[in-house]
Amino acid sequence: MDKQNRPIGFFDSGLGGISVLRACTALLPREDFLYFGDSAHAPYGEKSLETVRSLTLQAVDSLIDQGVKAVVVACNTATSAAITLLRDKYPSLPIIGIEPAVKPAAQAHNSSSVLVMATPLTIQEDKYQKLAAAFCHEANVISLPCKGLAELVEQGHLEDAVMDEYLQALFLPFRHCSVEYIVLGCTHYPFVRSAIRRNFGQPVEIIDGSDGTARQLKRQLEAAGLLTSQEEPGRVTFRNSRPEMLDKCRELYNLEY
Ligand code: DGL
Repeated sequence: MDKQNRPIGFFDSGLGGISVLRACTALLPREDFLYFGDSAHAPYGEKSLETVRSLTLQAVDSLIDQGVKAVVVACNTATSAAITLLRDKYPSLPIIGIEPAVKPAAQAHNSSSVLVMATPLTIQEDKYQKLAAAFCHEANVISLPCKGLAELVEQGHLEDAVMDEYLQALFLPFRHCSVEYIVLGCTHYPFVRSAIRRNFGQPVEIIDGSDGTARQLKRQLEAAGLLTSQEEPGRVTFRNSRPEMLDKCRELYNLEY
């Protein structure tokens, strides 16, 4: 098969990266995608840096062995832990990561406080700390580690009382703060965007990094001469380290949220 017609590899700790995959298939509808979710080891955001590095390298090695032409690390946690290692290991392969969309939120004209929701590991890592520091003069950037939230999404608590209760407790300290933007800094969180909006209890803009990642993927494929020449719609193949999650993958891929 011509190199440009090989699939694009996608990786997340589990289901979350499907929110990014949707943005990518919308922008690049003729590309084939091979999505691997490591639900057997989710959540990554509460593991050690070393463990996340090793799981990420293993997953990406396996996608590359299957012949993908590029890799999207559709996981903020894995990106902050391992993107540099991956790019050092595979210097000639386009490898696209995702990071919390702090920049557009902090630079929005009406923005003075930005609440960044992400996993504990993402927030603790240097990459995020530098990002938040770079925009702290443009807005009050508040970092909110959301222990347990990605796991609830993995378990299927999207729009139910369990999710409401979790979010009510999480947002309690912000009841009397004025916040203009919430940044979804974990790819699992867009699936609970409505629940986040409802439970936050004050009008707020909510943004995530999916569209930016899709545009970056397109730019990198173009630059490498790797855009597909196929005319027909592309295919999406799901794999998961917990095969019983495959139906859930397809369901989330088609879910309205
Ligand atoms: N979806 C991932 C992220 O974007 C991580 C969730 C997890 O496994 O903790 O950070």
